Amino acid sequence: MSTAIIGVGNIGSAIARHLVAGGESVVVAARDESQAKALAEELGPNARAASVEDAITGADAVVLALWLDNMREVIPQQAHLLDGKVVVDPSNPIGFDANGQIFRTLPDDQSAGSIVSGLLPAGAHYVKAFGTLAAEALAASTNREPRRVALFYATDDDTAATTVERLIRAAGFDPLKAGGAADAGRIEAPGGDLHQFGFNGEIIDLEQARTALGAAKQPA
Ligand SMILES: NC(=O)c1ccc[n+]([C@@H]2O[C@H](COP(=O)([O-])OP(=O)(O)OC[C@H]3O[C@@H](n4cnc5c(N)ncnc54)[C@H](OP(=O)(O)O)[C@@H]3O)[C@@H](O)[C@H]2O)c1
Repeated sequence: MSTAIIGVGNIGSAIARHLVAGGESVVVAARDESQAKALAEELGPNARAASVEDAITGADAVVLALWLDNMREVIPQQAHLLDGKVVVDPSNPIGFDANGQIFRTLPDDQSAGSIVSGLLPAGAHYVKAFGTLAAEALAASTNREPRRVALFYATDDDTAATTVERLIRAAGFDPLKAGGAADAGRIEAPGGDLHQFGFNGEIIDLEQARTALGAAKQPA
C-alpha cells in the first residue's frame, strides 16, 4: 500500500513524517519538485518524491494537502487519475486578512469538503480527515502518551473509511468517524464543533472525542 501526499507544506510534511514513522510507504509531490525531494531524502527509504501525476498514479490513497484554491486547479487537472483512489481531504475554509486575522472563505452552510468532493470523479473514494488539528498540534501530538490523540474523519464511503482508519492509526492517532460527507463541516474550521478550535484549542483523546460526538447527537 502506498500513499501519495500532494503538497509538502505544514500539513503534508507532518502527515508524511508520521506515516513513514508508522511504517507506511509514501510518495510526496510538490509544485517545486526539489522540496518534495528534500522531504523524501529526510524521511528515508519508505519515502520517495515524484511528479504530482506519477505520485497519484502509483498510490492507493491520495492526501490532497493543498489549500482549497489550489485544489480547484489540481483536482480537475488530475481527475482521471483520481478515479478509483481513496482521496483524503484535510482542507479548511480558512483565509487570513491583511492583519493576519482568520476569516471564513465560504458561506457558513457550505463546507470545504462539499467543494472538494464535488470536484472529484464519481469513482473516487472521498474522506475528510487530517485537518482537525492545527498543523503544529498535528506535528507534535503523534503517539501521545498515556493516551493517543483522536482524529475525526467524515465519509460516506466504506473503502475510504477503512483506509483512513489505517492511515490515522499508522500516523500515531486514534480514528473516530464523525459522520458522513455531509458532516464534513463539523470537523472543519472555522465553525466546526468537532474541530480543535471547537474545543477551544484542546487536543482530545478518543474517550473525549466519543463523549463530544455523543453529546452533540443528544436532542437539546
Ligand atoms: N496549517 C494548518 O494549521 C492547517 C490545519 C488543518 C488543515 N489545514 C489545511 O491543510 C491544507 C494545507 O495547509 P498547509 O498549512 O499545509 O499549507 P502550506 O503549508 O501552504 O502547504 C501547501 C502546499 O501545497 C503546495 N501546492 C500548491 N499548489 C500545488 C500544486 N499545484 N501542486 C503541488 N503542490 C502544490 C504548496 O507549494 P508552494 O509552496 O510551491 O505553493 C505548499 O507546499 C489547507 O487546505 C489547509 O486548510 C491546515
